[in-house]
Amino acid sequence: MYQAGVSIKDLSASINLQKEHKILEEELIARWSKAEKLFEVGREMINSGHPHSVEIISYNNSLLNSWKQLHIGEPDGEWEKGIHLGPNERWEEEFCEHKEHGLSERAEMCEVKRAMVINDFTRPSMTISEGEVCFLLNKTNLDWFYVRNQSGIDGYVPANNIKEFNSSHVHVRQTPELNGVTETRQESYRDDFNELRMRGSTRDHSKMDEEVQAAVAPMFGVLDIVLLAGMAGFGIYWVYFRGSSKPQPPPSKGYTMQPTLITLKANESSYITKMKASGRNIVVFYGSQTGTAEEFAGRLAKEAARYGMKALVADPEECEMEELSKLSEINNSLAVFCMATYGEGDPTDNAQAFYEWLQSGEAELSGVNFAVFGLGNKTYEHFNAMGKYVDKRMEELGATRVVEAGVGDDDGNMEEDFLTWKDKFWPAVLDFFGLEMNLQEISMRQYRLVLPDVVPEKMFTGEIARLRAYQTQRPPFDAKNPFLAQVIAWRELHKGGERSCMHVELDISNSKLRYDAGDHVAVYPVNDPVLVNRFGELLSVDLDTPISLVNIDEDSSKKHPFPCPCTFRTALSYYLDITSNPRTHVLKELAEHTTDPEEKEKLLKMTSSSPEGKELYQQWVLQDNRSLLHILEDLPSCKPSLDLVCELLTRLQSRYYSISSSSKLHPESVHITAVLVNYKTPTGRVNNGVATTWLAAKKPLSDQPPHQVPIFIRKSQFRLPARPQTPIIMIGPGTGVAPFRGFVQERLKMKNEGKPVGDTVLFFGCRNRAEDFLYEEEFQEAINEGVLTLHTAFSRETDKKVYVTHLLKEHGEYIWRILGQENGHIYVCGDARNMARDVHNIIIETCSNYGQMSASEAQAFVKKLETQRRYSADVWS
Ligand SMILES: Cc1cc2nc3c(=O)[nH]c(=O)nc-3n(C[C@H](O)[C@H](O)[C@H](O)COP(=O)(O)OP(=O)(O)OC[C@H]3O[C@@H](n4cnc5c(N)ncnc54)[C@H](O)[C@@H]3O)c2cc1C
Ligand SMILES: NC(=O)c1ccc[n+]([C@@H]2O[C@H](COP(=O)([O-])OP(=O)(O)OC[C@H]3O[C@@H](n4cnc5c(N)ncnc54)[C@H](OP(=O)(O)O)[C@@H]3O)[C@@H](O)[C@H]2O)c1
Ligand SMILES: Cc1cc2nc3c(=O)[nH]c(=O)nc-3n(C[C@H](O)[C@H](O)[C@H](O)COP(=O)(O)O)c2cc1C
Repeated sequence: MYQAGVSIKDLSASINLQKEHKILEEELIARWSKAEKLFEVGREMINSGHPHSVEIISYNNSLLNSWKQLHIGEPDGEWEKGIHLGPNERWEEEFCEHKEHGLSERAEMCEVKRAMVINDFTRPSMTISEGEVCFLLNKTNLDWFYVRNQSGIDGYVPANNIKEFNSSHVHVRQTPELNGVTETRQESYRDDFNELRMRGSTRDHSKMDEEVQAAVAPMFGVLDIVLLAGMAGFGIYWVYFRGSSKPQPPPSKGYTMQPTLITLKANESSYITKMKASGRNIVVFYGSQTGTAEEFAGRLAKEAARYGMKALVADPEECEMEELSKLSEINNSLAVFCMATYGEGDPTDNAQAFYEWLQSGEAELSGVNFAVFGLGNKTYEHFNAMGKYVDKRMEELGATRVVEAGVGDDDGNMEEDFLTWKDKFWPAVLDFFGLEMNLQEISMRQYRLVLPDVVPEKMFTGEIARLRAYQTQRPPFDAKNPFLAQVIAWRELHKGGERSCMHVELDISNSKLRYDAGDHVAVYPVNDPVLVNRFGELLSVDLDTPISLVNIDEDSSKKHPFPCPCTFRTALSYYLDITSNPRTHVLKELAEHTTDPEEKEKLLKMTSSSPEGKELYQQWVLQDNRSLLHILEDLPSCKPSLDLVCELLTRLQSRYYSISSSSKLHPESVHITAVLVNYKTPTGRVNNGVATTWLAAKKPLSDQPPHQVPIFIRKSQFRLPARPQTPIIMIGPGTGVAPFRGFVQERLKMKNEGKPVGDTVLFFGCRNRAEDFLYEEEFQEAINEGVLTLHTAFSRETDKKVYVTHLLKEHGEYIWRILGQENGHIYVCGDARNMARDVHNIIIETCSNYGQMSASEAQAFVKKLETQRRYSADVWS
């Protein structure tokens, strides 16, 4: 259009087209929020088992497709990454470099989410305007998100003021000011976004509100589909037309980080392209929160080489899962899924988008071969729900199952479940592809040791991701960038007995961290220095040697197993889980470095899949509760190199605690209620819990600087009802009472503010009133204030145990009234293994007895309470 030789006629046609485009795009923006609401309502209806779910899915898909064609709310087709970001690592590169970094420090691509501003928001330091597209850097909590606006300014904005583009990623180039080279393509897109912003800002707020209101009422208007379909055609034409003809503005100066337009072509970093380029035929996806599924995926991928195949490990969150249908383009290809289940049968965070995509029913996967290993725990109601779902859904979508799915049970012996499944898996794969069993001896080492010559300032000292992150703390704080919270209070809660339960208060002022009662705080602990030193002693290594473990596989996007360079001491103290029981593949590696024939044989026997081998592993490692260190102590001829040990150990995980305070009362601190873990093992050793032992030594002392604890906050669904009048029943024996302390604080505050507060009933149980009655005085105060009704069960005061479950039975009629007639909410927290299950059964029984329902009707009733989030559980085992 702007080129020489273009006629006036062309120009006026193009101006008209532009005008039309503007009107349509305004319409688009206006309708996007409505469409999102529609998707949400649709999804809710599907999830709650609506009888017309199939039609709703189809409507949802058709609407989504129309939007996709319009390039709004669509996942980015381009997938270009320099680094691999698993759920637990992000140290090689910083998420987004900040301006204060050296000018020549960065010029690379990384991915961030985008959001559309739906309501203006102004604070002294930044402004976002309706219609503007900004980067969504962090969903800090339900209320506040951390964003970067079009001017490159970061800040917190109310979550309600922006709308995330569904699972879309964008590419950013961070260009140092001096070289001034900024991708022209990006600049042109920035222009487009500025246009969007300008148009968006003319919109009327009340109209937007009306739309949102209206969106929840009807389901799908025919008009929506017709209009969207019409707009889609024009939109595609426009994007193509405009993109090809607009002149590129000059490169901007400065350190830029701007959104780019979504492109649909898959680039060379797509996992399919990567597999083709590196001759791999197996892709192993993992859905993992605490690393077990990821570890299993890595083991399978490594083993593929022994069977003459090549595999790639992939995080579904970082892949365009839509590409799965293209897997059939690779000869003898296979997708393996190692999927853990959480919550109420939910996927892990990194598998959430994949799960939604599978549910959407868009995929056509004929020709794709697959296998599933699910990870779960039988103590949870929805045992292995995610693994089972993926297995069933893949088949429904046309994929071919190569071997029956495996289900691992963490409450039993997950390792044995995995080995048993693996024993069937490889022969089935070979058989399926008509390959010969021709085992190859290959090195199972993934990382090589480098002894770097590096100045101390460049070495990691326990940071989770960014070098020196603890020296220069920068929000937003999250799992990859924890906040160093000062311990401002610490006290013992038990009044007697041999056990200890601590109350710890952590200062979060100046962190911009926000929480709600019911959320979890995660703590990154440090291993016991005595155990760390033992490694040095047993393996005769100077632990202060600087090291770097570097991936041998150059194709791998995971360069190091933990932040490197660091010292052995740092790795063993901060990054590696040195206390849990090693898995059998670790024993196999140890056997290679064991000189005594008997000791070697013992190790090898435990790695075999014979019943005796499995039995020996179960007894000697699991029941006797041996860690790798214990094995080195008990098999003195076993002398692996320390770098191998560092490769074999899994990552040290953060520990979650149910926050035991209310932010309404304590906005500047989070409180933890944690019972100290220590126990004697059958070998006579005393095992101390990593995090609780570390926290137990964090008592503030007046003559010492305050202790600091790296934390982040994880939002939960465990929430008080929106209306304080709604009655609630809370069941929390032992430390399960933690979130209910926060709930009671909140209801008390509301009452003191003159708000009407509904029944607030707590069932608490402990061993002995005089010893472990947690927060007795505080609860008494709430009773005195007329807010709380407390029922207590002391299990070890009488000959016959009294549990909260017994009290629930006694109060069955009341419980039914609250749940069945008064729309109340019920909450359970604490032990998943026994208590939470027993409570669940009793509530079903109660509904049946007092609500005149059959057992199955009562079950369905409780299930409905769960879907309505009127029955919530926050449990662990
Ligand atoms: C969502 C969630 C919320 C939680 N909230 C709380 C809370 O509010 N308060 C709280 O105290 N905990 C809570 N926990 C548990 C907490 O996260 C830790 O697991 C716990 O504090 C132990 O951590 P640790 O590092 O001290 O022990 P670890 O070093 O992790 O050791 C614990 C492990 O030791 C083993 N073990 C423990 N006791 C014995 C025994 N007697 N015999 C044999 N083996 C044993 C078990 O394998 C156990 O998993 C919560 C967990 C989750 C998932
Ligand atoms: N992963 C970990 O390392 C870890 C660490 C801490 C806690 N936990 C879990 O968290 C739970 C709570 O721990 P805690 O130390 O705070 O509590 P706790 O003191 O062990 O138990 C609280 C009360 O609950 C009772 N109880 C036991 N079984 C019950 C059941 N089926 N139904 C109802 N009440 C029951 C106990 O009675 P009796 O003891 O007299 O039977 C006790 O009176 C533990 O059960 C444990 O599973 C796990
Ligand atoms: C808070 C919590 C909730 C869980 N919920 C379930 C569940 O609903 N169903 C299930 O089968 N397993 C559940 N599990 C067990 C995990 O799936 C299991 O421990 C798995 O090995 C974790 O894998 P990962 O380390 O890869 O995240 C839960 C575990 C935790 C800690």
